[in-house]
Amino acid sequence: MTAVRTLVTGSRGKVGRAVVRVLREAGHVVTGTDLSPVDWDRQPEGMAPYLVADLTDAGQVYALVGGATEGENAKAGPYDAVVHCAALPAPGRHAPHVVFGNNLMATFNVVEACVRWGVPRLVNISSETAPGFPFAERAFFPEYLPVDEEHPLMPQDPYGLSKALGEQVCAAAVRRSDLRCVSLRPTWVQDAHSYARNLGPIVADPSAPSITGWAYVDADDLADAARLAAECDLAGHEVFYVAAPDTIGGRDLHASWRRAYPDAPTRLHEVTRPDASGISTAKLHRLLGWTAKRSWRDYLTDDGEPLSVT
Ligand SMILES: NC(=O)c1ccc[n+]([C@@H]2O[C@H](COP(=O)([O-])OP(=O)(O)OC[C@H]3O[C@@H](n4cnc5c(N)ncnc54)[C@H](O)[C@@H]3O)[C@@H](O)[C@H]2O)c1
Repeated sequence: MTAVRTLVTGSRGKVGRAVVRVLREAGHVVTGTDLSPVDWDRQPEGMAPYLVADLTDAGQVYALVGGATEGENAKAGPYDAVVHCAALPAPGRHAPHVVFGNNLMATFNVVEACVRWGVPRLVNISSETAPGFPFAERAFFPEYLPVDEEHPLMPQDPYGLSKALGEQVCAAAVRRSDLRCVSLRPTWVQDAHSYARNLGPIVADPSAPSITGWAYVDADDLADAARLAAECDLAGHEVFYVAAPDTIGGRDLHASWRRAYPDAPTRLHEVTRPDASGISTAKLHRLLGWTAKRSWRDYLTDDGEPLSVT
């Protein structure tokens, strides 16, 4: 592969860190950007260059996407690809307008800068929450499980709405330019630090509900999907869910759903394995060749206890 110069936003976050690592391992020349301050001391050999930028500021985003950096690198110009991970990743911990405004303006500015600088490929990290049921103020159920890209989007909350509209911003951009874009909708992302805290109690409690059908995904598997999306030649704007193939704790999807939500009108579609995730990644597998390589079983026992690493 010829070296691809890739900008990763949100590079200090859970997803961005994994994306930077996976892209670099695949030979991309990566620059990271986030809100957190720079370390002014000499960087360790081989570390990805890092720039501070608030993506809600269009001027900073234009400079960044256009290639602003130091020394020799400054001559290289706009990037070959941008992977946009930066966002406030949930509602409820900031005022609603802060979540909505931050996420939507950051995505708008990144997309607009990609269009104007002629960046050919954008990977937009969207969310499983775009259809609306995960954070709904007036609870409602998915129409069917496993959810796939055909499921309607009916977000109520500021986060899911910002993600659904962010996808619309991408769709509008490819209509008016040569930008090609992939939006990835990850489900609940886990890494080595979060499996036990987040999934342990759900593995341990067979009656624990999950409106997304006990879906989860490993951050490195999501990063693999982002890499495939950054390198693919798909035209237009394609949307993909990203989830591990199984449920948290390996529970039976249909039986667990009926037990947790006996009154839900959700249609339960046939699945290829009893413990199939509530989110289908068939499209991601079909069009980008993605398969998950990591599992909750790499970190937890069947009782939800952390596996001791030897
Ligand atoms: N964590 C999950 O379970 C999950 C699930 C679905 C989708 N996502 C999406 O994945 C992406 C990454 O989430 P994460 O879990 O790594 O969250 P995170 O909070 O760990 O990382 C997000 C990063 O974005 C940065 N950021 C936020 N607003 C910014 C701005 N205005 N300018 C510059 N940087 C900004 C933050 O500083 C942070 O480092 C987000 O788009 C999130 O919506 C996450």
